[in-house]
Parts: sequence; structure tokens; C-alpha cells
Amino acid sequence: MVFDTQDLLDHHKLPVIAIDGPSASGKGSVAQLVAKHLGFHYLDSGALYRLVGLASLWQDIDLTDGIRLGAATSRLKIHFDADLIYLDGQEVSAAIRTEEMGKRASAVGAQPLVRQALFALQRSFLQAPGLVADGRDMSTVIFPQAKLKVFLTARVEIRAQRRHKQLISKGISANIDILTKDLVDRDGLDTSRQTAPLIKTADAFLLDTSEMGIEQAVQTILTWYKLA
Ligand code: DC
Repeated sequence: MVFDTQDLLDHHKLPVIAIDGPSASGKGSVAQLVAKHLGFHYLDSGALYRLVGLASLWQDIDLTDGIRLGAATSRLKIHFDADLIYLDGQEVSAAIRTEEMGKRASAVGAQPLVRQALFALQRSFLQAPGLVADGRDMSTVIFPQAKLKVFLTARVEIRAQRRHKQLISKGISANIDILTKDLVDRDGLDTSRQTAPLIKTADAFLLDTSEMGIEQAVQTILTWYKLA
């Protein structure tokens, strides 16, 4: 596809709502509903890191081998079909949602070559009429021009309870103490890594959903967006 300069400028002007935050904060559900309300596209960037985590398992790549992980990321054959996600032709929508894949995603996400290999793919989700993007570095690296930046979080014990409820409802047994520890570990990794750590930028709105339901969080973001 060939873009002229005007196309690129117009593309850059398309509205983006960037929603960053820690694991199990509920940002995925909130971001999807905001996108639905506005008729915008939705990018779940965590799913891409989870796919890299799954590919690393399939290909038996060491989680510290940044060069092989980066090369494998560039070769990923990812396909989205509504709510279904395919990796190398295999439907993996549920397989990437496990706790193990969350941990692997966090580990591969610390590798700069993996992040570099996913950069253009993430940017390509920005299509008219606009995009809601959820992740860790949407505000800082992928869409620094976002019209609205939200840092969505909740206290760790609340996040652990939400994750616990979610797993139990899927018939997966889970221990709240282990979940809490895993969340604390993952927060530590995602906020302390050298490349694109999770941070709240000065221009991002803080949304603490510890005492708030999903619908209230959605309405708050829609109000901020109208005013942005
Ligand atoms: O949002 P999630 O729980 O599906 O993300 C899983 C992991 O992927 C997260 O712990 C860190 C990594 N990730 C990342 O490094 N950058 C992103 N933009 C999104 C996710």
C-alpha cells in the first residue's frame, strides 16, 4: 500500500484512546466496552505478547534469548477473526489466557527485539473512525499522540479477587494467595524493565477502579473523551 504525505498526516489525526495499566485491572473489559460505545476498533496488545509467549513454548525458545524471541516474533502468523485468535493456523483464543501464558508474555515483553517486532503491527490497528488500545506502553511508545490517555488500576487485593472469580467461573481452580503473589511479581517485572516499562505519564488520567464497577469506569472514560 502506498501512502502520500497527506494520507499519513490524516492517519495520524485519527483519534486514539490509550488505556494502560497493570494485570487484572479490568482494563480489557473496560476498553472493549468504550470501543463498542464509540464504534472504534480495539487493540488488545497483551494478546500479542501472549501469542509470542505461546510461540516461544511451541518452539522451545529460552525466555531470556532475546535474539531468537525477536526473530520468532517477526515470523508469527497471527490472524484475528471476531473474538477468535489464530497462531500459525491454530485457534488459540483460550490457550493464551492462562496464568502461565500471562507470565510468559511478561517475560518476552521485557525483550526489546520482541517489542520492536510488534511495533508496526500494533500501529496498524489504527483505522478510521478511531481506536481504543489497551496495554502497558500504549500512551508512551505505540500511540504517544493519543487524544486521551488513561492509567487504569485497582488495588492488588481487588485485582486478585477479580482474577480469582474469573478463573472459578471458568471452572479453573485457583488460590487467592498464589494469584496475589503472581500479580505482585508481574507488576514488578512490567514496571521495572528497561524497555517500555508500565508507567503513568503526566498527561494520563488516573482511574482507580477498586471501588467502581465496569459500567462506571466506562462512563468516566467516555466523559473524559468528550472533554478531551
Ligand atoms: O494485558 P495482559 O495481562 O494480557 O498482558 C500480559 C503481559 O504482556 C503483561 O504482563 C506484560 C506484557 N505486555 C507488555 O509488555 N506490553 C503491552 N503493551 C501489553 C502486554
